[in-house]
Amino acid sequence: MFKEVKYKDILNIKHLSIKKNNITCIVGESGSGKTTLLRLLNRLISHDHGEIFYHDQPLSQIDPVKLRRAVTMLPQTPATFSGSIKDNLLIGLEFAERPLASDNELYELLKRVKLNKELDQDAAKLSGGEKQRVALARVVLMNPEVLLLDEPSSALDEDTEHIIIEELVNYTRKRGKTLIMATHSKKVASQFSDQMIEIKDGKIINGKGV
Ligand SMILES: Nc1ncnc2c1ncn2[C@@H]1O[C@H](COP(=O)(O)OP(=O)(O)OP(=O)(O)O)[C@@H](O)[C@H]1O
Ligand SMILES: [Mg+2]
Repeated sequence: MFKEVKYKDILNIKHLSIKKNNITCIVGESGSGKTTLLRLLNRLISHDHGEIFYHDQPLSQIDPVKLRRAVTMLPQTPATFSGSIKDNLLIGLEFAERPLASDNELYELLKRVKLNKELDQDAAKLSGGEKQRVALARVVLMNPEVLLLDEPSSALDEDTEHIIIEELVNYTRKRGKTLIMATHSKKVASQFSDQMIEIKDGKIINGKGV
């Protein structure tokens, strides 16, 4: 929940409540503040006015590492690390010193993001949209409570986009997750969201279910 939150002169949100276990889409034109809003939610940046609460606790009082384990972000331009697809999938778990997933689990995950590739394949040789899906799978593997996805389907064609978002939505519902996604696609937002937040010049101008 946001109360009177300001970030520089970029965002100014009087009140915003994002619901648990919902699919929330953030829409708005380029430069309106979608990425900034997502970055505030896991403290990649800190607001300079007001307060943001996660489960009724002010973000400023939650250990950032713990917060990011529960509220994990897929950046708008995700990194691809040198090495295989498997290396790229496991790097988040390795970094967090958590148990790794088996090859079988990883193949299941690749199937979910519609990537018919071998785990030992060089990740550098994937297409832009394939890299985007590996990065998405990496976030899903981290098993966070809240997934913050910044334009997760921007590099995908419309059909693949539909399949991937539908898969994500099913996953979110089945596993009781919360999905917060910035998207330039109003079609995706209106079709899949429970809650839609429209931002213009850093302000919320429209909200479905807000
Ligand atoms: N670190 C920063 N310092 C200063 N200004 C910034 C910073 N990050 C973003 N901005 C500015 O804040 C505004 C909102 O940027 P933001 O990245 O949140 O937009 P967006 O809605 O995600 O756009 P897009 O759809 O292009 O990804 C833009 O005008 C941008 O130039
Ligand atoms: Mg953005």
